[in-house]
Amino acid sequence: MENSMMISRLDGILPKEIKAFWETSVDSTNLSAVRLAQQTDAQMVLAIADEQTQGRGRRGRSWSSPMGQSLYMSLLLKRPPIKPENASMLTLVIGLSAVQCVRELTECSAQIKWPNDAVIGDKKICGILTEMRVDEDGIRHVVLGVGVNLNAGEFPEELKDRATSLYLKTGKKYDRAETAALLCRRFLENYHTFLKTQDMSGLLEEYNGALINLGRQVKVLDPRGEYTGTAGGITPRGELRVTRPDGKEEVIYAGEVSVRGLYGYV
Ligand code: BTN
Repeated sequence: MENSMMISRLDGILPKEIKAFWETSVDSTNLSAVRLAQQTDAQMVLAIADEQTQGRGRRGRSWSSPMGQSLYMSLLLKRPPIKPENASMLTLVIGLSAVQCVRELTECSAQIKWPNDAVIGDKKICGILTEMRVDEDGIRHVVLGVGVNLNAGEFPEELKDRATSLYLKTGKKYDRAETAALLCRRFLENYHTFLKTQDMSGLLEEYNGALINLGRQVKVLDPRGEYTGTAGGITPRGELRVTRPDGKEEVIYAGEVSVRGLYGYV
C-alpha cells in the first residue's frame, strides 16, 4: 500500500522526472520497483519501503531491513539509453552518489570501497544491489537498489565488525525521505555525466578521490586464485587497477572478483 504521507514529504525535493512510491512492507524494493514500474509511464521509478521481509544483498546474501530503521530504496530506470555492456558501471555511479549524499548529510568523510559500498572508516554504511533485465531491444530496465544504514542503534554480532550506521557515527537520527531525495538528486547529476560518454571518464577524478582502496594493499578474491596487490584507481570502464608485488598490473572487473583489505573488510 502506498504511504501518501511519506510521498508528500518527497514533494519538491525529489527530481520531477522520478515517480515515487512508498510502501509499508515489501519483500524487496528491487522486486517492488519492477512491479510498480508497470503501473506508470514514468521512465524513472523510485520504490521505498518502511520494511523489507526479504531484503537482498550481493552474492545471494540477505539484507536485514527492520521496520522504519533505515533507508531501503530502489531506483528503476526504464529503457535507459545505455548499451547493455555499459550498464554495470551504473553501480559505480550510484555508489559515488551514495557517498556524496552521506558526506553532505553528515559531514563524515564517507568513502567508496570498490566497486560500490559506501564506508565510513573501515565499516560499511550503505550497500548496493544492481539488477538488470535485457530483451531483444536492449535494456528493459536497470534497478539500482540501495540500503543506507541510517538509524540503527546496534548490529548483530556477525556484522558488528564491518557495519555501522549514520546514527552510531554522529549520534543524530536521519530522515529517510530527505536522504532518498538527496541521493536521487546526486545520482541524476552523475547519471547525466555518465550518459555523455557511457563510461566513468567524466566521474573518474571524483570517484578515485573518494576511493578508500586507493594506494592500499588489497586481497583480490579471484575465482582463478587469490592474490594480493596495491590498488590504484579505476579505469574509465570502472575496473580496479591492482599492481602485484612483482610490478605486473591487473585490471579487475567487479562482476567476477571482489576485494578485501589484508586484515579486514576494507
Ligand atoms: C550488499 O551490499 O550486499 C547490497 C545490499 C543492497 C540492499 C538494498 S536495500 C534496498 C534494495 N532492496 C533489496 O532487496 N536490496 C537492496
